[in-house]
Order: sequence, then C-alpha cells, then structure tokens
Amino acid sequence: MSALYVVTSNYSKFNELKSIASKYGVNIEMLDVPKFEIQHDDLEAIASYAALAAALIARKPLIVEDSGLFIESLNGFPGALSSYVYKKIGIAGILKVLEGLSNRRAYFKSVIAYASIDYNIKLFTGVVYGRISEKARGSNGFGFDPIFIPDGDTRTFAEMELEDKNRLSHRGAAFRKFLEWFINSF
Ligand code: IMP
Repeated sequence: MSALYVVTSNYSKFNELKSIASKYGVNIEMLDVPKFEIQHDDLEAIASYAALAAALIARKPLIVEDSGLFIESLNGFPGALSSYVYKKIGIAGILKVLEGLSNRRAYFKSVIAYASIDYNIKLFTGVVYGRISEKARGSNGFGFDPIFIPDGDTRTFAEMELEDKNRLSHRGAAFRKFLEWFINSF
C-alpha cells in the first residue's frame, strides 16, 4: 500500500497518528502544503474545506485532522478556536477563566477529513469526555494535554505515554474509524 499523506505541521499530532497507523500496516507521511482554515464553529466544515483545498494543490489523496477542546461551563468555548486560544492565553488563561467554577466538564473532538483523488470528502469523528484539572500536570503531548483528565482515569493526557493517550483520545478514535474504512476500501 502506498503512503497516506497527512496535512499538518504539528509533529505531536503526526506522531500520534503515525503510531496508530503502524498498527494497521499503513505508512503515513507529512505533506508540506498549507492547511487553509475557514472561520466556522463546526470542525467538520473546517476539516472538509481544508482537505479539499490541500487536495486541489497537492493532487494526491490525503487527510486533514481538525480538533478542539469544548468546555461545558463556557458553552463549548474554545471549540473550533482552540488553536488560536491556546496561542493567545494558553493553559494558564483557561485555568483562570474556570477559577471558581465547579463544573469542569469538557470534551475533545477530532474530525478527520479524507480527500480522494477525485476530490470526494469523507469524514470520521472521535470524542473523549472528561474534565479540566485544577492545575496543569505532566509534560507529554501538546496543547491542552496538561489540563485534560479523561473519564475513567486520574491522569491528565500529559501524564500518559503516547500509547495510553491514543487508546483513549478523540484523535485515536477518529483515526481508527478512518483506518478501518481505509484498509477495507483500498
Ligand atoms: P488544530 O486541530 O490544529 O486546529 O488545533 C486544535 C487545537 O486544539 C490545538 O492547538 C490544541 O490547542 C487543541 N487540541 C486538539 N487536540 C488536542 C489534544 O489531543 N491534546 C491537547 N490539545 C489538543
């Protein structure tokens, strides 16, 4: 099977995907084309347009993954704006906003958009429910990993090895759904 291209410049994200793909015998490669992000509050729309734009430039089948952290007491904020909010206020900013709030429920969602060679888009989603910790803990992973504790665990994602995060995460769930479909389709 030829390589599967992934449009991302995020090495942490790519390494998570690479580790899962290897278990399915699928080789993935980073594709150096721009990830165009439309402004939308729907991850599905953002991932679809980004995959289509990248496929039109690269003329190759590829995937784009778009994800976000949705905090219940903030009506789903930062959601599709997670990357921007992370860069602007980071983990400390989110902890500050949540100070004094007892409801710390949150979920991560991942959408994987596959663009075929004839520009058809297929979507795969994964969600992991959990809560925002009181303090940042751990140094693995990326983004909001140090403050997210998945249900059924006491560790934040940043306190887990890659394997454990992949088993539980939104991205792991979405990517396994994609890979099951992909290896049965090609
Ligand atoms: P994007 O999917 O590249 O647009 O970025 C999504 C943003 O959501 C990242 O920059 C992180 O801030 C956050 N995010 C998404 N998935 C994860 C994750 O698995 N761990 C921690 N933060 C995440």
